[in-house]
Amino acid sequence: MKLVHTIQELRAELDIQRKAGKKIGFVPTMGALHEGHASLVRRAVAENEIVVVSVFVNPTQFNDKNDLLKYPRTLEADCELLEKEGTAYVFAPSVEEIYPEPDTRQFSYAPLDTVMEGKFRPGHFNGVCQVVSKLFMMVEPDVAYFGEKDFQQLAIIREMVKQMNFPLQIVGCPIVREADGLALSSRNARLSDEQRKQALEISQTLFKSVEYAASHTLEETQKFVEESIAAAEGLELEYFEIVDGMTLQKIASWEDTDYVVGCITVFCGEVRLIDNIKYKGL
Ligand code: PAF
Repeated sequence: MKLVHTIQELRAELDIQRKAGKKIGFVPTMGALHEGHASLVRRAVAENEIVVVSVFVNPTQFNDKNDLLKYPRTLEADCELLEKEGTAYVFAPSVEEIYPEPDTRQFSYAPLDTVMEGKFRPGHFNGVCQVVSKLFMMVEPDVAYFGEKDFQQLAIIREMVKQMNFPLQIVGCPIVREADGLALSSRNARLSDEQRKQALEISQTLFKSVEYAASHTLEETQKFVEESIAAAEGLELEYFEIVDGMTLQKIASWEDTDYVVGCITVFCGEVRLIDNIKYKGL
């Protein structure tokens, strides 16, 4: 495995691989890697001859400076995990390398990016699209892998790829959970032991809501989730929306579409956690 820091080095390496006809898989990350990332890398390794993983904490997607400062940075441990999983190249550029000039491009994929995370984290998806589009142009992968935990991000990236004619395939990979159900996230490392127990209520509520939904209306299920989180100690609900899994727009009844997903964001202390669950479809 090679660790490269510059675009020039990365391009030189990947040109050779491409000329040799190698299929290139790409997993973009912000580091602080866990089993969820490892599952993306494993899938990429199984489906490609060369796998590139980027580790870059992208400042333009953080609308909260504190969140950016506190984001865990663990490149050494990340490289160990990536080497074990069969990664060929780790691309860990500096901020100056990616943004030699401020990125003034504006990405807008309304209505996909105006709801949920887009509403509560203004500018977030613009920053994600800025960095992911740059990374796609640098790596030029055949296939790129993203986790379904960031359900809205995945939908927006798919749309960006279509609108920008990127010649690559996007693969969404299932959420990886701890044995007790908590969705894996780099942010989990910031939870105290007490908060870790409290955070469990998020996934538990979502699982229970699937059973509940089988015999209740969408409105009742919405209320069930909101009330369960409100009653849980240490948790504060930011939003829970039951949406069409393709358009990400709220629906009014289970019959409105064939693909229904519940997306939730909850604060556990200062730590903002997201999760989602499928009620119907795909
Ligand atoms: O999902 C993430 O970790 C980030 O949003 C991504 C896609 C690596 C872009 O910085």
